[in-house]
Order: sequence, then C-alpha cells, then structure tokens
Amino acid sequence: MHFSIPILKSAIFTSTTLHTIIAIVAALALVIEGFISVEVRPTIKNLNILITNLPPEFHGFSIVLVTDIHTGASVGKGKVAEVVKVVNSLDPDIITVVGDLTDGYKGYIGDRAKPLKDLKSRYGNFGTLGNHEYFYENIDNWVKFYKEDLNLTMLINDGVILERNGKQLCLAGLDDFYTEDAKFDGHKMNVTKALQSCPKNISTIILEHQPKGAAKILEELPKIGYHADLILSGHTHGGQMYAVYPMVRLANKYLYGHYIYKETNTQIYVSSGVNYWGPPVKMMASMCEIVYIRILSDLVVK
Ligand SMILES: *[C@@H]1O[C@H](CO)[C@@H](O)[C@H](O)[C@H]1NC(C)=O
Ligand SMILES: *[C@@H]1O[C@H](CO)[C@@H](O)[C@H](O)[C@H]1NC(C)=O
Ligand SMILES: *[C@@H]1O[C@H](CO)[C@@H](O)[C@H](O)[C@H]1NC(C)=O
Repeated sequence: MHFSIPILKSAIFTSTTLHTIIAIVAALALVIEGFISVEVRPTIKNLNILITNLPPEFHGFSIVLVTDIHTGASVGKGKVAEVVKVVNSLDPDIITVVGDLTDGYKGYIGDRAKPLKDLKSRYGNFGTLGNHEYFYENIDNWVKFYKEDLNLTMLINDGVILERNGKQLCLAGLDDFYTEDAKFDGHKMNVTKALQSCPKNISTIILEHQPKGAAKILEELPKIGYHADLILSGHTHGGQMYAVYPMVRLANKYLYGHYIYKETNTQIYVSSGVNYWGPPVKMMASMCEIVYIRILSDLVVK
C-alpha cells in the first residue's frame, strides 16, 4: 500500500470573502450545535466508584448527582420537571442537588423550581448551596424555600449519617466556596462544623458546589483529623463554551470528570451540570449530564 499526500501548489484562502464566509459558517454551526446541546434530554452518566473499606452493606448504594439546574430566565418549569422525571427514572437511594439550583429572585422564579419537590429516593433528597443562590435573593429565603417548598434536606456545613443494615455512611455538605471571601451573616464554609456529627472512622462523602472549595477541603481535612472518600462538585459546567473554556480550564485544577487526590486517597467528581449559565449554549449535548453513581466496596470487589 502506498499513500501520498497531495501537496498544495497555492494557498487555499486567497479570497478574503471566502475566508470570511468560512469563518461565519463555522461560528454559526458551533452556536447552533450549542443551542441544540442544551435542548436535548440530559445525558445520564454512569459512574462506579470503588471506596476503600466501604461497609459491604453499602455496596451498590446509588447516588444521583444533579448540579447547576440554574432555574431562571431561560430554564422554566418544563425543563425542571424533565430533570425530575429523568432523576426519578433512575430509582436512586439518595439524590444530591449540589448547588446553583436557582438563578434569580424567589418571587420571580420560585414557582419554576417547584417540580423539584417531586424528586423521589429511598434514603433522602439532599441539597447544598452554590454561588448563584447568593447573587440575587437573600440567601436565607432560598434556604427556607428549599427546605419547606422543595422538601430538600439542606446540608450547609452539616452532616447526616445514613444507615443501611446497621452500618453507617456519612454524607456532609458545605456552604459554597463563595462565602470564603464574600461576607454573609451566618454563612462561611466550615469543614469542621460539617463533619462534627460524623464519627471519624466511617466512610464519608462530601458535597461542595465549587471544585475550588473541594481543593480547600482536601487541604483542611488532614489538619482536623478527618478523611473523605469522595467529594462531589459542579459549578464549572466543564467550561461550557469554547469562548470561555480556556479561562475556566486555567482557573480550575479540577474542571470536569473524575479525579483522585492520592495524598489522602480521596476521589473527586466534578459534574458539568445539567443546565447552563447565561446563554443557552454548551459545547456538547453530553455535557448536560445527570450522574448516576454506584459506590462499590473493595471488601466485596476484590
Ligand atoms: C419530605 O422528605 C421526607 C424525607 O426526607 C419524607 O419522609 C417526607 O414524606 C417528604 N414530604 C413530602 C411532603 O413529600
Ligand atoms: C467552624 O466551626 C467550628 C465548630 O462549630 C467552630 O468552632 C469554628 O469557630 C468555625 N470556624 C470558623 C472559621 O467559623
Ligand atoms: C468506629 O469507632 C467506634 C468507637 O471507637 C467503634 O465503636 C466503631 O465500631 C467504629 N466503626 C467502624 C466502622 O470502624
């Protein structure tokens, strides 16, 4: 077999008009693809996470991770209801809604988020705050709404112990990383507080909206003598758009996907979120994701 690559005798883009047309067509195609990406049904991403010393009673325990719903100007009730339908079809043990549920004032968009009250799971529906909850409404109004109207158990520097056949798993959630710098009364990311109701020797999963917050938690855990097996985050939208991707990439050590922090044997999963921020555009349809996680015990899987 012999291949030869044709060598061009002259430049292709000799016409500036042709050059411009190609650029415009390519840009339009990417934007149209971006619009379509956020209109299709969310992709279900399956993830098996092997946890060291996870009690065999929790082997196969399922967690749905849904982040960045961004209920607001362009994300209405129908789109939220569709997310709920997909999540419920997965029949999970727990549901974790990890920040940026809403993006606006409660009076305007609260009603659009209402379908989230229909989320169904066996062991509970849990929520944490993201930065966008802080942008418009008094944060405590949103917290009250999430608890009372959506029946979410809010984990804001708080932890719960889940029990299955007599064995325990700790699920803790932190206030958003945004509270590190911004001043809001009664709101400050605090890992000690989040974990104080969990025994130190049980498997622990932490919810923190921003992966930068996750990185901070990883630094702090050894100092306070705690360990986390898994941290679930969102926020980055995987970069969301070609135009901003390079900046988001540089700003985030953990951008999108599954990471392992070897020093403490902690796994991190950063979801690209189910929706988008700002213009209804995402790079690929697969980046509108709902994550179905099964945690597996190394005591069972040898
Ligand atoms: C609210 O959630 C709890 C569990 O977290 C459940 O027991 C209760 O039935 C739910 N209430 C409604 C009205 O769905
Ligand atoms: C974090 O919470 C712990 C326990 O509630 C408290 O003692 C500590 O002062 C808090 N840290 C900050 C920075 O607020
Ligand atoms: C954790 O430590 C407590 C107190 O020492 C002990 O009773 C319990 O069995 C331990 N649990 C696990 C899972 O090792």
